[in-house]
Amino acid sequence: MASGMRQPPGHSPANVVFESVSKRYADGTVGVDSIGLECEAGKVTVFVGPSGCGKTTTLRMINRMISPTSGRILISGRDAADLEEASLRRGIGYVIQNAGLFPHRTVADNIATVPVLQGIRRRTARLAAAELMERVGLDPALGRKYPYQLSGGQQQRVGVARALAADPPVLLMDEPFSAVDPVVRHDLQNELLRLQREIGKTIVFVTHDMDEAIRLADRIVVFQRGGTIAQSDTPERLLTEPASAFVRDFTGDSGIKWLSLMGTGGLEPRTDDVVAELDSFAGLDRWRLQIDGEHRALGWLRPGATAGDEFVPCRRTFVLGADPMRTALDSALLSPVGQAVATDSGQRVLGLVDFASLEPAIEDHRSRAHA
Ligand SMILES: Nc1ncnc2c1ncn2[C@@H]1O[C@H](COP(=O)(O)OP(=O)(O)OP(=O)(O)O)[C@@H](O)[C@H]1O
Ligand SMILES: [Mg+2]
Repeated sequence: MASGMRQPPGHSPANVVFESVSKRYADGTVGVDSIGLECEAGKVTVFVGPSGCGKTTTLRMINRMISPTSGRILISGRDAADLEEASLRRGIGYVIQNAGLFPHRTVADNIATVPVLQGIRRRTARLAAAELMERVGLDPALGRKYPYQLSGGQQQRVGVARALAADPPVLLMDEPFSAVDPVVRHDLQNELLRLQREIGKTIVFVTHDMDEAIRLADRIVVFQRGGTIAQSDTPERLLTEPASAFVRDFTGDSGIKWLSLMGTGGLEPRTDDVVAELDSFAGLDRWRLQIDGEHRALGWLRPGATAGDEFVPCRRTFVLGADPMRTALDSALLSPVGQAVATDSGQRVLGLVDFASLEPAIEDHRSRAHA
């Protein structure tokens, strides 16, 4: 579907540089206090930090929805203050919580909003909208519906499609996934990561969720009270070398978070207990995973199970090399025997990795990272 699609000729991603930028609101509140920061071109920069510490203010200064009181913001080396305001704003995609869709416009027309403003014919813009819907994992048939007829997760995808419609060099996302449930949220994060591999935009993303930050970020910027930056670093460095007690407390127990960063490419699944034919193995005193002719998992068989016995469902599998260690661990914990089920990207079973052999892999990774 989307993967074979040719990328439209577009703007190359811009880098965004803050030079001693401050924002003092009219009532005297300091929103942001003299921050210096680079959001690298083509990378995902994630802002985290407690409420009221200046994340949204910082984000909105990039497209001039808020203007700084002092300092400069450079977009691809050009001072944002010198750029024409309306075109700057249209040229930067913006996604917010609850998607912020126009309720009286169809989904397709929501997505086509900016292209139409830019003078593209409505028909052409609608066709492009259908293509964008596929890109973000939506059925183009939903284009005729109105936002209220969509689920929260679907609306959020429309919000992303709309933000991408003008093929902007920068995409701003302010807690875009925080109003959807954890399962949908996980899907949306995966979609965004997949999409980003295709489009390579400069994305600036705000979240309160440290796990989300670690999954998505090339760089995490931790804000603190008073609108200053406590630390700006890669997820690894942030977890292993927090710059202050505040950062350490804010990022929380890094043990579990490590698992989201660790790859599973080094694991070696075993196939001894994966069976395609039950009869020849009947009577064995171990749990076995039965697969079908396409190598897909059918379920777990109890020790001594015979033909016709029910399977215990295989509740979670992980894609070897693509999913993080955390997913492998979930898979092991959710299986009846502490065995994680490794598959390829086509859901074909490659084998099993037992819990006991996940542990040393995790320890090894952590000790190397701390060295
Ligand atoms: N229009 C405004 N007028 C006055 N003060 C404001 C205005 N907008 C924001 N502030 C203040 O500026 C500070 C930073 O606000 P901002 O919205 O950037 O925080 P945030 O980090 O995005 O918070 P949250 O995590 O709750 O979204 C806060 O103290 C806030 O009350
Ligand atoms: Mg905010």
